[in-house]
Amino acid sequence: MKIVMLGAPGAGKGTQAERLASEYGLPHISTGDIFRKNIKEGTELGKEAKSFMDAGRLVPDELTVRILLDRVADDDCKKGYILDGFPRTIPQAEALDSELEKLGEKIDFAIDVDVPDENIIKRMSGRRACPRCGATYHMQHVPPKKDGVCDECGTELVIRDDDKPETVKNRLAVYHEQTQPLVEYYRKKGVYHTVDGTADVGAVFDSIRSILG
Ligand code: AP5
Ligand code: MG
Repeated sequence: MKIVMLGAPGAGKGTQAERLASEYGLPHISTGDIFRKNIKEGTELGKEAKSFMDAGRLVPDELTVRILLDRVADDDCKKGYILDGFPRTIPQAEALDSELEKLGEKIDFAIDVDVPDENIIKRMSGRRACPRCGATYHMQHVPPKKDGVCDECGTELVIRDDDKPETVKNRLAVYHEQTQPLVEYYRKKGVYHTVDGTADVGAVFDSIRSILG
């Protein structure tokens, strides 16, 4: 089963993808997490991605597509995967589909976690992330068991560099302009579903599970 998670920055794609990954035993692939890992490790890719991310802009398609196609060619992706934050532009979606077509495969579900912009700005200010394993928390809605520390790996949680209110506004503008057209793209392919992302984390998860069956 191949799933694409759609939705604005901060809609909860990562939160839901993480849960789905453990429920369905599929790899969770976040291009944002891949870029952040590279930034942390100081790789060339990280250096290139950082300037775009800090400005709230998209990393160029060519680079992003190459990284993603490499990742989905790994052995653990043979049974399927959950893509979180990819595709984010029509050319990215087309590149993925043409690669899948060669293998006689396709995206089975595109799940849009729908949250209005005004909720997003509030949510982002409370987000904390684990720089080591990528787990995501929220100070009010999804707190870690121990204040400021990751439940999974014990690492100290951080605020993401791109969660400043100004950057969040840019990310939302970029989302509406470049990513939202994917709604029509996947609707035409008959795989588009939307869930109310303003409900609590467990309720959103249940809605997605009922779509996946
Ligand atoms: P990426 O890391 O993908 O960021 P994003 O899309 O902006 O989304 P976020 O990770 O911010 O939000 P999310 O939807 O995962 O929400 P989360 O679960 O954390 O990309 C970062 C950057 O990398 C991009 O701006 C771009 O520069 C670059 N990039 C990445 N992919 C790219 C691509 N394909 N092409 C080009 N560039 C790319 O939840 C948010 C908060 O809300 C958390 O605190 C969480 O705990 C809380 N929360 C979640 N669900 C709920 C709920 N139901 N109720 C209350 N709180 C909730
Ligand atoms: Mg995320």
